[in-house]
Amino acid sequence: MTKSQNRARTGTIVALDIGTSKVCCLIARVERPPVENGTRIIVQPRIIGSGLQVSAGLKNGVIIDVEVAETAIRKAVSAAEQMAGDHIRSVTVNLNGGKPLSKTIGVDVDIGGLKIDDSDLQRVFQRTVSLNTNGNGNGQTNSHSSTQAVKDPGRELIHSIPVGYAVDGNNGIRDPRGMFGERLSVNMHMITAANGVIKTLRSVIEETHLEIDDFVIAPYASGLSTLVEDETDLGVTVIDMGAGTTSIAVFSDGDTVFTDIIPVGGAHVTNDIARGLSTPIAHAERLKTLHGAAMATASDEHELIDVLHVGEDEHNSPNHIPRSLLNGIIQPRLEETFELVRERLTDSGFDAIAGRRVVLTGGASQLQGTQELATIILDKQVRMGRPLRLRGLPDSMSGPAFATSAGLISYAIEKPSAVSISTPNIKKETGGLGNRLGNWLNEHF
Ligand SMILES: Nc1ncnc2c1ncn2[C@@H]1O[C@H](COP(=O)(O)OP(=O)(O)OP(=O)(O)O)[C@@H](O)[C@H]1O
Ligand SMILES: [Mg+2]
Repeated sequence: MTKSQNRARTGTIVALDIGTSKVCCLIARVERPPVENGTRIIVQPRIIGSGLQVSAGLKNGVIIDVEVAETAIRKAVSAAEQMAGDHIRSVTVNLNGGKPLSKTIGVDVDIGGLKIDDSDLQRVFQRTVSLNTNGNGNGQTNSHSSTQAVKDPGRELIHSIPVGYAVDGNNGIRDPRGMFGERLSVNMHMITAANGVIKTLRSVIEETHLEIDDFVIAPYASGLSTLVEDETDLGVTVIDMGAGTTSIAVFSDGDTVFTDIIPVGGAHVTNDIARGLSTPIAHAERLKTLHGAAMATASDEHELIDVLHVGEDEHNSPNHIPRSLLNGIIQPRLEETFELVRERLTDSGFDAIAGRRVVLTGGASQLQGTQELATIILDKQVRMGRPLRLRGLPDSMSGPAFATSAGLISYAIEKPSAVSISTPNIKKETGGLGNRLGNWLNEHF
């Protein structure tokens, strides 16, 4: 049995994916021992309840109307509970905003020539915690990081993920236990996000009487449900194209090394169409999904489509426009979005590590021609991502729009080498950050 199989959590697991366009709640039962299936996710949970609700009160992945958002969450959760015939207590939630910052911090500890064991791993993890909480650790930052930014009081630590150990300068070690050396080093990928966004999200969820097991950065979750092991090992970028966000997670050497969220998504495309063609939002959405394309085709000039103008109803004689007019509105917005992605990747310094492979997820990736446009602008090999098939998941929730939802289940089961560190409220409940970290280590090593 592999180490990750040993770690897998069983029992009831709940994913709460709060998106800009939909809220999805999945209740999974993990009953069987995990089985190897050649992909990163090696357990097979069974979905026993699911609830899907049109989202409200969110903009660009962030809650802007507390009461309305709470109602949508309540409805999605209670639909899932009804189907499962059970009440849920705690959820694993996506984080789609809060301007996440990825920092990689190099931390090292003395081993004194002895055999490396769990306590040494605990020491390096504790060192990163102290860096985050009071800045007293001996940690050193690498070229992508700044200790100052990690202990920024306006930000909370969401993930702390070990991305490669070194023993006496020998890099590329995934598990150093059992090795001998003088000095153990680890690069920690620490993801922080703005306090306010997290506090609002937490308070809204807690209003529904649910506890929060973990927050997971949305594109990280999407990667967990769609990538195969070769991709995460060799380097890949997941781009989750949602309604209000386009988010990025770079994976390399088996885990995520960089994440980012751009507050632009499919809803902006729809708004552009509504404005450009003077048509109601609902009609613009229909035009986009039925006739829209990310790239113009030769026949667009001759193909006519019906457009309803604002204030008119279906009974008015339709206005015909060439499809090229519609796609001429869509293409620039998507080009701009992929250019922003390219810019963020370049600025991050992780573009080379990310390699040449890109996987697209999210509902907005379904727009015809998106894969081709991404290939051209990013100059990489692009494939469409589909979340791993979860047993019991309704077909309507198995598409790319549900990559984050499915990935939250994967995260909750596996917590793939991530040290999930709680935020202040939870810290109080559990007796401190170090304590929770200690519990995690006890559970997983
Ligand atoms: N067939 C389609 N063609 C084009 N766009 C589509 C299609 N189906 C869905 N979309 C778009 O996908 C978007 C919704 O995707 P998704 O469900 O991934 O977003 P979300 O998770 O609610 O939002 P976010 O993650 O940004 O907070 C909408 O903008 C919708 O217009
Ligand atoms: Mg989403």
